[in-house]
Amino acid sequence: MFFVFDGVDGGGKSTQVDRLCTYLKTHGEVVTCKDPGSTLLGEALRSILLEKGQTPIDMRSEMMLFTTARTQLVQEIIKPALKRGAFVVLDRFVMSTVVYQGHAGKLNPEDIRAVNRFAIDGTTPDQTFVFDVPVATAMRRIGPSRDRMESRGDEYFTAVREGFLAEAANDPAATLIDGTAEIQTIESNIRAIVDGLLEKRTP
Ligand code: TMP
Repeated sequence: MFFVFDGVDGGGKSTQVDRLCTYLKTHGEVVTCKDPGSTLLGEALRSILLEKGQTPIDMRSEMMLFTTARTQLVQEIIKPALKRGAFVVLDRFVMSTVVYQGHAGKLNPEDIRAVNRFAIDGTTPDQTFVFDVPVATAMRRIGPSRDRMESRGDEYFTAVREGFLAEAANDPAATLIDGTAEIQTIESNIRAIVDGLLEKRTP
């Protein structure tokens, strides 16, 4: 079973990834990873994409680099884990590219979906939790030390937030999470959805 946590920076997804993993470990093997990252190639691309270096990166190149990191992650870790029956809990996935490089980065979201269909080779999440907080809250939580992506202005992050709201509304396997709610409340809401899926899974 494959769970994805996605949404705006500073939305609070990492805390909930940890909590869900702790819970799922009582049910079986859990593999948790970060997109981009979690493979040697993915970590190298993550550094290029997030460090504030001097290398110019065009938006199309940026989209392809995020997607390349994901392709490696799917092939090297996610597919084998799902095949052996493990739970996979992933921090970000295709929706991030559609939103950050599409809705906010002005590339055509349909082109991004098409490239990613090839990249993920049928490996789609059973459930995606999309964390939403107002841009001002996100900026406050991120604080003054920002990576290359986080350094983009308020206009970009307003488009990111709106993009996630639109994508969550259009994806039947996605649930919007109010990232301003109490951590415990969020955990319970996620747990209820996961338990529902676990029940359906057992004969
Ligand atoms: P994070 O893993 O710490 O959330 O940081 C990843 C950053 O990269 C975050 O700002 C979102 C951004 N991102 C994209 O722009 N496109 C993508 O496809 C992904 C996966 C992340």
